[in-house]
Amino acid sequence: MNAAELVEVVLPGKVEPEGLRIRHGAVPAAGPGQVVIRMEATGVSFAEQQMRRGRYYDQPPFPFVPGYDVVGTVLATGDGVDPGLAGTRVAALVKVGGWASHVVVEAADVVEVPEGISAAQAETMVVNGVTAWQMLHRKARVRAGRTILVHGANGGVGSVLADLALAAGVKVIGTASARHHDTLRRRGVVPVDYRADVAARVRELAPGGVDAVFDHVGGRGIVASWRLLAPGGTLVSYGSASTRDDDGSKQWPVLKLLARVWLWNALPNRRRAYFFNVWAGRALARNAFRARLRADLTQVFAALRRGDVTARIAAELPLARVADAMRLAESGTVAGKIVLTP
Ligand SMILES: NC(=O)c1ccc[n+]([C@@H]2O[C@H](COP(=O)([O-])OP(=O)(O)OC[C@H]3O[C@@H](n4cnc5c(N)ncnc54)[C@H](OP(=O)(O)O)[C@@H]3O)[C@@H](O)[C@H]2O)c1
Repeated sequence: MNAAELVEVVLPGKVEPEGLRIRHGAVPAAGPGQVVIRMEATGVSFAEQQMRRGRYYDQPPFPFVPGYDVVGTVLATGDGVDPGLAGTRVAALVKVGGWASHVVVEAADVVEVPEGISAAQAETMVVNGVTAWQMLHRKARVRAGRTILVHGANGGVGSVLADLALAAGVKVIGTASARHHDTLRRRGVVPVDYRADVAARVRELAPGGVDAVFDHVGGRGIVASWRLLAPGGTLVSYGSASTRDDDGSKQWPVLKLLARVWLWNALPNRRRAYFFNVWAGRALARNAFRARLRADLTQVFAALRRGDVTARIAAELPLARVADAMRLAESGTVAGKIVLTP
């Protein structure tokens, strides 16, 4: 790749992975308050699996450049930005636009990546790490010695969440396909097959209920998640993976979850429910949002350096092989993040 050329992946519409296009152009310039990041690593998240089906609840209109997060070095700084930032390795949560050799972001939105962490390792922690940290430590606030249920404990968010919880002395029951169970056991997670009777198995393991459930599956299963809570427990719903392949409104599954959460909180039942959205608060209080994200991602990077969480890189593929990367991510056969490189 020519270092002075922009290479980006375009999602032109609802397409199979092979329908993603590579576009070449000029490297963008940094406007006032912005930086240009030369991408070193970006990743495939579940969000892109939904976006290529037109199923992510607030995706932009087609065509657009997907890519939820990015890690790279600052190549150029715009007016009003400390020029000393150039050359620094940073991470940014962008929702879209990350699948590109160069990404323009507001300087206030980048978070420095500490020494000792590679770009690919850092990449596995951006959206996954912030989501996991905030759900565990800002929403559920589970104390040591308590027990939680993490759905999809082998997935990107689920595996970081399980690591962070174990490091905080919390016991973790995790659902996953049977092929991931040995890996989960080695990490200290008690695995449950999500294709079996999850509720019955969790009740055997935690007869009094669990102190928190983290549910990205949504659909009807959310009721089972709620019923597994012990008194004082917290349900954190944060996705609707079960409706990825449905037709119809992309907002409706999330609205239904929001309605349920509202209802459960309105009824007297000594349990709490949240619908977690990593973007919540951004529109209303941008600086508070940035401060929280910076603080939490910095904590996650520190946990990574301590070895409390593991960066699980399932594969590293160049941007040009994005179709293979998506196929691999959607195969359900890999554990960890598919990282895209320039
Ligand atoms: N609300 C937010 O702010 C926010 C932020 C980030 C992510 N998310 C959500 O978090 C979820 C996980 O994202 P990710 O990037 O970590 O995904 P990922 O790495 O692809 O992991 C997905 C996990 O879900 C399991 N899974 C897939 N389809 C399922 C289904 N129909 N029923 C039950 N389990 C299923 C997979 O298990 P197997 O591999 O065993 O099949 C895997 O463990 C997504 O739903 C995403 O939208 C939400």
